[in-house]
Amino acid sequence: MTEDLKTRVHDFWQANPCGAKFAEMQIGSREFFEAVEKHRYQTEWHIPEVVQFNRWRDKAVLEIGCGLGTDAINFARAGAHYTGVDLTERSIELVQRRFDFENLKGELRTADAENLPFADNTFDLVYSHGVLHHTPDTERAINEAHRVLKPNGQAMVMLYHKNSYNYRVNIMMLRRMGARLLAFNWGPAFVHGITGEDENRLRQLQEIYRSDKSKLLSRAEFLSQNTDGAGNPLARVYSRKEALQMFSRYREAHTQVHFLNKRWIPLIGRLLPRALEKTLAQRLGWHLWIIAKK
Ligand SMILES: C[S@@+](CC[C@H](N)C(=O)[O-])C[C@H]1O[C@@H](n2cnc3c(N)ncnc32)[C@H](O)[C@@H]1O
Repeated sequence: MTEDLKTRVHDFWQANPCGAKFAEMQIGSREFFEAVEKHRYQTEWHIPEVVQFNRWRDKAVLEIGCGLGTDAINFARAGAHYTGVDLTERSIELVQRRFDFENLKGELRTADAENLPFADNTFDLVYSHGVLHHTPDTERAINEAHRVLKPNGQAMVMLYHKNSYNYRVNIMMLRRMGARLLAFNWGPAFVHGITGEDENRLRQLQEIYRSDKSKLLSRAEFLSQNTDGAGNPLARVYSRKEALQMFSRYREAHTQVHFLNKRWIPLIGRLLPRALEKTLAQRLGWHLWIIAKK
């Protein structure tokens, strides 16, 4: 059952490399990577502030779930000894290409977060952004990160936040109401018109809705279908307390909350000034970071 789910997780990300939809250029081209990076740090401007890439110069960094490699390339540019793993071959090929464009070195390989192919006590930092809530056994992956960290090493892990505006209001209220409109032929075009949501994605959701309405509307399934695209087999959310419980092997752990996508707040979202966006994001943001020491 778990292995079947893991295969579906692999197949989904292999077919939909994370973040690729934010750039229109040919996937894997230099321009594509530039556009992906620009978009990422424009909308998730807190990432460089939290990670402080320059702090990791000459340190052994492992990234779990490197995706398109935007943070990867920033660790490498800053002079870290970078190792990146991802469940999918596609991600590793793309990140290798990206490193080649810039003549940077890194060890890149496919691997599963739940069974890391590294010796105990190897890394100064284990970094994982938006990955471990997609793997069937999240706690096991967090324990693997602990095992491969050196004593005193640091883990930085971002998981989706349950007590967030995006989960409680946008996904579980607004989108669920919108999903009921998918019963109608005109539903996708109408929802696209009022929310700006991608119409193809809405048509895919319409198919899922029509084939099994009660399954789609169940909390777990609805969450998975509404985070990283229709067809995503698994996404979970955690409260700060639930997340910290999974880090009980670590010596110290604390949380930070970031990222309120203005697009999710109908009508007034785009008008929010940066200072107010930041204050709201610190309480109700979608990205729950756990920063922990071994
Ligand atoms: C939402 S993307 C995040 C990528 C990147 N970290 C980012 O922030 O853009 C999730 C990534 O996690 C990878 N992934 C999912 N389960 C994994 C696992 N068990 N082990 C390693 N990587 C995994 C997927 O292949 C995908 O590239």
